[in-house]
Amino acid sequence: MKVLSLCALVSLVSRCTATIYENGHERETHFVNTRIPSLGTNDTEWTTYGPNATELSYKGRWDDKHISWWAAPGLKFAFTGESVAITFGPHTTNTVLVAYRTAGLDWQLSNITTNATHQFVSPSTPGLNATLPSQLPLTFELRVTNWAYGVQINAVHLAKGEKLIKVPEFSRRIEFIGDSLQSGYGAVYEALSGFGYTVGAGLGSTEFSITAYPGICLHDANCWGNPRGQTYQFFRTSDTSPRAAALYNSTPPLYDFSSQPTKTDLVIIMIGTNDNNTANPVRGDSYYRSYLSFVPELHTTFPSADIVIMNLWGNFVRQGNTWVQQPKFIDEIRKVYDVLKGEGYPVHFFDTKGILQHNDMGPTFHPTDAGHLKIAAHLIRWINVMFGWELDATGPEVQHETTYWNDQVNY
Ligand SMILES: *[C@@H]1O[C@H](CO)[C@@H](O)[C@H](O)[C@H]1NC(C)=O
Ligand SMILES: *[C@@H]1O[C@H](CO)[C@@H](O)[C@H](O)[C@H]1NC(C)=O
Ligand SMILES: *[C@@H]1O[C@H](CO)[C@@H](O)[C@H](O)[C@H]1NC(C)=O
Ligand SMILES: *[C@@H]1O[C@H](CO)[C@@H](O)[C@H](O)[C@H]1NC(C)=O
Ligand SMILES: *[C@@H]1O[C@H](CO)[C@@H](O)[C@H](O)[C@H]1NC(C)=O
Ligand SMILES: *[C@@H]1O[C@H](CO)[C@@H](O)[C@H](O)[C@H]1NC(C)=O
Repeated sequence: MKVLSLCALVSLVSRCTATIYENGHERETHFVNTRIPSLGTNDTEWTTYGPNATELSYKGRWDDKHISWWAAPGLKFAFTGESVAITFGPHTTNTVLVAYRTAGLDWQLSNITTNATHQFVSPSTPGLNATLPSQLPLTFELRVTNWAYGVQINAVHLAKGEKLIKVPEFSRRIEFIGDSLQSGYGAVYEALSGFGYTVGAGLGSTEFSITAYPGICLHDANCWGNPRGQTYQFFRTSDTSPRAAALYNSTPPLYDFSSQPTKTDLVIIMIGTNDNNTANPVRGDSYYRSYLSFVPELHTTFPSADIVIMNLWGNFVRQGNTWVQQPKFIDEIRKVYDVLKGEGYPVHFFDTKGILQHNDMGPTFHPTDAGHLKIAAHLIRWINVMFGWELDATGPEVQHETTYWNDQVNY
């Protein structure tokens, strides 16, 4: 598990290319150029709202300067009129790729410039004048696709005289805790293609945070350059990125869990692949002890949540004339579950065995988009059977650009 792309390590302000590579080739993309000139203070076309307007719903983790952290953080609101623009602040990673959409139409992607204003909705946006409007008021949603890069919201602009409308929160909520595997490292659109996002969005009617970062360990140790493990960092607003280190040094703010409007029903943990790597200074017994102390802290933080421990699928290696799965920390995770299931609050075990095959992994040992979809599909159905959650996403796109098909059906 590598930590960060080179451009993130080199500089926080250099232009990181938003080119997407697929199996070593440049992928055909249709990113929208949304940048517009900065708006003057006396602009006659726009009504401007500050980043703390109560109608804005921030998804995932954001700090009090409205800077996003961790994987696939988002912003959602409804609006009147036919125009939405956002001014991004100085703590926006230059050229960070964001996904955005109105109502139930497909995601579109655009790269964002530090300190710039970007217009995402205009009178020519498809779906605004639908003859049978199925979703009114119109919602606007934005997600940062990466885990390390982020945006800072400075202002939201609507057409002159138009209004922001608060979108009610969904009543169920999941907290995902993990590393690169949940944050979508190596998937085409990164966190937006990862199984954390795909489970949260795929269930529908669900609020979720993906508190996951590539390379991070569970045990509090420096793993692949991440200064702290999740037993420490999970309780902080910011992640372990160089961007966070530059802003907060070694004192990241504690996260205010009471700021989440919806109580957490499910905590889904899958972590330890980095602890299990000999490149990092963690061994099985410290992993086991950290896991045993972490889960009770999560229970204190989310008293009404069911806690789900996923085991680690590990690597797939070729042995003789077949492929063999090599899961990580088999005994440790089993023992953690055996101890915790008797603690008086609901702890569950989700077995990943047999879901992925060797070719669901890319060359960086992370799932392909298909691998993420398989994990997500199993987990979604398991949550439905286990907890009775309805599958409420019944049409609008969840996984972006996975429509592969055979268009020569007569060959
Ligand atoms: C990113 O945005 C800039 C301008 O905002 C544009 O020139 C560039 O082509 C975009 N990159 C991609 C990959 O779309
Ligand atoms: C904005 O408009 C007001 C009222 O017309 C005027 O007093 C003020 O100087 C203007 N400010 C700028 C920055 O143009
Ligand atoms: C938003 O912040 C401004 C100052 O930056 C403050 O005047 C205003 O009261 C705040 N609004 C809310 C809803 O917190
Ligand atoms: C963004 O704006 C701030 C002032 O608000 C400035 O200090 C900073 O240099 C700007 N950053 C970029 C990349 O233009
Ligand atoms: C939607 O309707 C408004 C007002 O009738 C019009 O100005 C705009 O061009 C229409 N947009 C589309 C995409 O048809
Ligand atoms: C990783 O997990 C496997 C399977 O439980 C175990 O055999 C191995 O010793 C572990 N390696 C490290 C470095 O912890």
